[in-house]
Amino acid sequence: MGGAKIKEVDIVLLSKKIKPYFKMRASSLAIFLLIFTLSAVVNPNMAMANSQTGLPDQIMLSWTDDPVTTQTIVWRSSADTKSEWVQYLSAADYNDSFIGALEVAAVKTELYAGYSHCEGILSELSPDSEYIYRVGREGAWSEPASFTTGISDDKFSFVYMGDVQKGYENWGEMLQHIVAENPSLKFGLLGGDLVDDGYNTDEWELFFNAASPVFNKIPLMPAVGNHDDTPIFWKFFALPENGPEGFKEEFYSFDYGNCHIAVLNSNKMGAAKPYYDKLKCWLQQDIENSSQQWKLLMFHYPPYPVVDDGHSYNFQESWVPLFEQCGVDIVFVGHQHVYMRTKPLRNGQVQADGEGIVYVIGNSGSKFYPGGDNHDYIAHQETNISSYQIVTINGNTFTLIARNADGQETDSYTLSKPSPYNSQHNKITPLWDAYNSENIYSGASVMTINDIIFRMKYFCDTIKAYAVNNLN
Ligand SMILES: [Fe+2]
Repeated sequence: MGGAKIKEVDIVLLSKKIKPYFKMRASSLAIFLLIFTLSAVVNPNMAMANSQTGLPDQIMLSWTDDPVTTQTIVWRSSADTKSEWVQYLSAADYNDSFIGALEVAAVKTELYAGYSHCEGILSELSPDSEYIYRVGREGAWSEPASFTTGISDDKFSFVYMGDVQKGYENWGEMLQHIVAENPSLKFGLLGGDLVDDGYNTDEWELFFNAASPVFNKIPLMPAVGNHDDTPIFWKFFALPENGPEGFKEEFYSFDYGNCHIAVLNSNKMGAAKPYYDKLKCWLQQDIENSSQQWKLLMFHYPPYPVVDDGHSYNFQESWVPLFEQCGVDIVFVGHQHVYMRTKPLRNGQVQADGEGIVYVIGNSGSKFYPGGDNHDYIAHQETNISSYQIVTINGNTFTLIARNADGQETDSYTLSKPSPYNSQHNKITPLWDAYNSENIYSGASVMTINDIIFRMKYFCDTIKAYAVNNLN
């Protein structure tokens, strides 16, 4: 058996390492053991190197399909065996045994030297149901863990976090605190720069050692940043492949409850034509084709920064008008290593609540930049702070609470939409130039029919007309 063989090899190697130390004098041995023990405590690489035992590690959940009925699980493997699996069963049927469990074969691909990447997709799951699973192969299974499938309900919470990039152990402790305080979190969003050097496998090891104990239970949906846009990011994370051709997984979207969430690779958002047109066209169709009540975006570079960084102009010129046209509500970003929330903005001008887009810069790691320019669009700013944002959706109400690493509230924001906002919509398309339209509210348009048009038969089926009220 492959697993048994690996264990025998491990024992031989360990014996060879330990043997020379027996020749040390007792005092030397005591000092060595003390150093070795301290090293294992301080260095999570040593403490958590499952790769040395042949066990699967860096187990992470995400979604590549419907969150309500599917679950995607990825992990790292150091085994040279060809086949690995996910075994899973309903938590109600689990009695400390996987006898009778369902099994899905993983797709195994090269990750980097000495390691493979495994991906298993579970489908036809029951909504809002807990499952127990393990990954690996005979003789080398991971510890059992659980996940709960998504809900169709419009009341749920998720966590948003900005850049990690430094201080992985502290970040991991903060994650544990977050899930302990918010046990009903449905998923996490992470806005890029997960590591500082995306080519450095040691950094990824530190990141996943911190992330996996939490995100092997709830899905993590990341955006890529400027530091981690490397093959390891794209090989490791399994993301929805519903983005534009040539940019799959870099641009993707998914629905949860009454939210539509689109995730963008902002490194590509200065792309030259024809890619620029392709990306914009995809985003426009993706957002406008969604009838979800809340439309959220996540990417890395902030269009409205704390400190002007040379990127914001491009976003304000080329992308923000599209976001506003499509009725985006909230944009989650990072990169500037501060926490900042803007006032609602439209055309670069501060608006009343609900009449502009709110931009949230997150920073969850331990790399800090000072604040800077005192822009009038800044509603709240915190520097020198590791923080996370708990977002709660309750029907037509969006609530964001920002907390520092100790769990203390540092900022909050609530936005409510008129409840009939999403009560119905109709899709109509003019057969020829029959109307003028104007965006007057987040996601809502007023259409003025041209004088010469008398009958609605000139419309058929692609332009959305939202039924709204409470508009002056
Ligand atoms: Fe960055």
